[in-house]
Amino acid sequence: MLYLRFKIQNYNMATENRGNFSSKIGVILATVGTAVGLGNVWRFPYVVGDNGGGAFLLVYVGALLLLGIPGVIAEFIIGRHSHANAVDSFKKIAPGTKWHWIGYSGVLAGFLIMGYYAVVVGWTLEYLVQACLGNLSGLTTEQYGEMFNQFAAHPFLPLIWTLIAMLVSTFVVARGVSGGIEKASNVLMPTFFIIILIMVGHSFFLPAAKEGMLYLFTPNFSELKPVAILIAIGQTFFSLSLGMGCLITYSSYFKKDVKLPKTAAQVVSIDAMVAVLSAMIIFPAVFSFGMQPEQGPSLVFKVLPNVFQQMPVGTLWGILFYALLFIAAITSLISLHEVVTAYLHENSSLNRRKSAYLVTFLVMVLAVFASLSFGELSHITLFGKTIFDLLDFFTASILLPVGGFFISIFVGWYLDKRIIAAELRIKHPKAHLIIKGYIFMLRVIVPTCIFAVFLYSILG
Ligand code: PHE
Repeated sequence: MLYLRFKIQNYNMATENRGNFSSKIGVILATVGTAVGLGNVWRFPYVVGDNGGGAFLLVYVGALLLLGIPGVIAEFIIGRHSHANAVDSFKKIAPGTKWHWIGYSGVLAGFLIMGYYAVVVGWTLEYLVQACLGNLSGLTTEQYGEMFNQFAAHPFLPLIWTLIAMLVSTFVVARGVSGGIEKASNVLMPTFFIIILIMVGHSFFLPAAKEGMLYLFTPNFSELKPVAILIAIGQTFFSLSLGMGCLITYSSYFKKDVKLPKTAAQVVSIDAMVAVLSAMIIFPAVFSFGMQPEQGPSLVFKVLPNVFQQMPVGTLWGILFYALLFIAAITSLISLHEVVTAYLHENSSLNRRKSAYLVTFLVMVLAVFASLSFGELSHITLFGKTIFDLLDFFTASILLPVGGFFISIFVGWYLDKRIIAAELRIKHPKAHLIIKGYIFMLRVIVPTCIFAVFLYSILG
């Protein structure tokens, strides 16, 4: 009897007493922390560059409004209603069904993304340190390119940085929701905003400021390939941390007084703003020093060092930029870590700390392959993609949209409307119409868009 009571208490500890974000600002900063990441500062500018600038931006904004905001709200509803991790939330709401497989796919996606994300966070650390040491100067673009290639291909140097990044994240996640994640976001995100505003301000004074801004904001539809729509949707999911239960996990720590639609709108707009601001930093800089933005993933590591060194007090700009990138990335890495850790901790006898370390260990194994795919393992490819590229493609372009598709169907078709209404708590005379409209988006618009894009990309 005593044993049973102990077990029940333990169970309650793990499921009910899970911690909360203690303040509303903490909710916003932590959620923006997961959304704003490499996706905004590193991925968005090169994706825009690869896909013809302004026209892509328009498609992206469309995807944010049509899929992003409804998707974020849908995950918030699941998370806050169930107060459980990505898998158990579905088990609680839809017991005895197969819906929780969405959660498994999310935990898997979180793990796979971490496998290469942590490697890039590691590169960021290396560049931050090199910038601080004043070593990012005196080379040509080719030499910077060579320097990056050599570094990325090194058998263990990048992995040491990857491990350091993972340990920082472990340290935060192990401390729990309000004592770890919220505290870290409360310090890191305001720092991030100060740095990004300083850098954008500086951008306007660069010689090619106008050219860079025009490139970003002028829609040139002739350069927009159909695949860009798939990429825009992938980018939406990736940048908003959608489709993998990350927002389910975070919103499971929201208190009842958090307004879900408002929080979603704030997070999506801040995320989009940060992506545009990052591009506003990068394009004017790149154009001002005679370079091109269509450089792909290594843009910020191969091209920018040469750009910074040509600026007055370039060392300082370099340090600021890599610090910016690091802060953005580490808060997202923490959220990925949290998804897998929360699942593991709440479904095993391991405590939070041990779960976090176990996740780190497993991620490091995957990261070895991701990192070596720039060196020793670069010959291993599938569909012309290296292990690193495969992880990126399989998660951002497949797992996340598929996850988003099913989450949308789940909330739109399966979830009791009363739960949706209770979680949305819209105070408006026409609230029932707004809720109807929202459910229609989840039932029809969001899944159709995702499905159409898939069909198109397979047939096209
Ligand atoms: N949203 C993060 C970024 O923009 C990446 C991420 C994806 C984080 C999925 C968590 C979950 O970099």
